[in-house]
Amino acid sequence: MQVTIDGPAGVGKTSVGRKIANRFSLAFIQSGKLYRALAYAKIHDLDPDSLKLNPGDATEPELIICGRTLGKDLDSEAIGEEASKLAKEGETRERVNSKIAQIAGEKDVLVEGRDIGTKVLPNADLKIYLDASIRERARRRKNQRETELSVKEIEARLRKRDERDQKRKLAPLKPAEDAVIIDTTSMSEEDVVERLSHLTENIT
Ligand code: C5P
Repeated sequence: MQVTIDGPAGVGKTSVGRKIANRFSLAFIQSGKLYRALAYAKIHDLDPDSLKLNPGDATEPELIICGRTLGKDLDSEAIGEEASKLAKEGETRERVNSKIAQIAGEKDVLVEGRDIGTKVLPNADLKIYLDASIRERARRRKNQRETELSVKEIEARLRKRDERDQKRKLAPLKPAEDAVIIDTTSMSEEDVVERLSHLTENIT
């Protein structure tokens, strides 16, 4: 089974996606983490070819680069911005997509990102596109991560990132034609999880 969740930064793809993946025993893949790992490699001058997505038995595959397991190091806004710049390059996108396709060929997956329903898994069983106002997304980011930045500053960064992700030539952020589009601006996380659970139940 393949479920995809796409949408802009800060909309809640990760928190909601993780809950749905756990509930339905799907491997949970955050494609943004792969772009972030490649940004980390660039910043630390590490070989991008050494990137490994190790499925193991856990629901969330491990990300390893040059023997280092990456975790919280990938969460900063600076890494996110660098990732979004790198994500414009075809070579980077192919590197990421082939790793996702490999796991999706072996396991039932929930993959979240920007182009999963449109490009990476176009035949997925269920495609979701989550949206929310930029102010609300900035608020969610502020609550989610330890950051000195104000909501306004986060909002400015998200706006820049959205623009770059939506306007790039390759695999821009947009809903797939057959995606279920959900505006989550005034929904609680629980509401979104329930809605997605209902949709997922109906394909199993
Ligand atoms: O989702 P996250 O914020 O971790 O993603 C970091 C960046 O990686 C995004 O801003 C986007 O530019 C890029 N990305 C992408 N395609 C995906 C997932 C992420 O271009 N499927």
